[in-house]
Amino acid sequence: MTTLSPTTNDPNREKILNANRAAHAREGTLYLARHPEQSNFYQTRLRSKALDEFSKMALPGGNLLDLGCGTGYLTLPLLERGFQMTAVDLSPAMIEALAARLPKDKLTDCRLRVEEAGDFLRREEALYDGATLSALLHHLYDYEEVIEAICARLKPGAPLLIYFEPLKDAGHSPAAHKLHRALAALDETVYRLEMRWRGIPLLDEEYVWADYQRRFGGIDFNRLETILKKSGMEILRVEKFCARRYGWASWIANRILKTPNTFSLLARRATPGQRDAGPSG
Ligand SMILES: C[S@@+](CC[C@H](N)C(=O)[O-])C[C@H]1O[C@@H](n2cnc3c(N)ncnc32)[C@H](O)[C@@H]1O
Repeated sequence: MTTLSPTTNDPNREKILNANRAAHAREGTLYLARHPEQSNFYQTRLRSKALDEFSKMALPGGNLLDLGCGTGYLTLPLLERGFQMTAVDLSPAMIEALAARLPKDKLTDCRLRVEEAGDFLRREEALYDGATLSALLHHLYDYEEVIEAICARLKPGAPLLIYFEPLKDAGHSPAAHKLHRALAALDETVYRLEMRWRGIPLLDEEYVWADYQRRFGGIDFNRLETILKKSGMEILRVEKFCARRYGWASWIANRILKTPNTFSLLARRATPGQRDAGPSG
């Protein structure tokens, strides 16, 4: 089991943090334009559905933590839903971009922090009415320790949304996988042409280390499930889907090919009564 230790002998830990600092310093305000896979019509619908479910479970107007908040992909819609937000990110450029997008009437409802996720959780004493992590885990050197630590900062019954993470070992059949790869290649070609046409530089080298968990094929869903259960969480809903740059490609991948490569998960911190009821896994 991992511990949230500030020290490590592995130089990769610092290397990955620096890679993330460098990549996201270049993203800033261009982040969503460069990542249409998060904002196309198909993905926007999935996000609304996930946030609706999450919001129903969180205390209305409660304090939520969005870790690795970026430019506000989940922070902003949650503010609109009336929650008080603490939004934390390693990158000053991403936090600046989020600050610029905050509606004037929400300024006092959102606390912004530039801080490394593990450092923040190590220091933080408050308990939250809910927490979200969108596309963060695959950037971390040790996502297991961050999951354990964030679960410990949730009040009993509070929901946790882990959103948009690459799925390891998705288990496609060989035929479906071929079509999946062909669709991915087409989607990516159109994307690269569009970025060139719009004058948005691509960041390929920057993500070689920043997307650290992709080196291991993504997030091991079974392992994540085990850690969550050990951390006193009840898993309520899992969505496995295919993320593509464009909505049309997402639609084909999800409705026809059914070849997931990404997942989202909704869990809830068990209440003391539930935990007494027996071992959770
Ligand atoms: C792929 S972006 C996702 C941003 C946002 N959550 C979204 O879904 O659009 C990953 C974010 O995690 C942040 N990040 C990476 N490593 C981090 C760390 N160790 N601690 C805190 N934030 C980190 C990056 O700066 C970046 O803003």
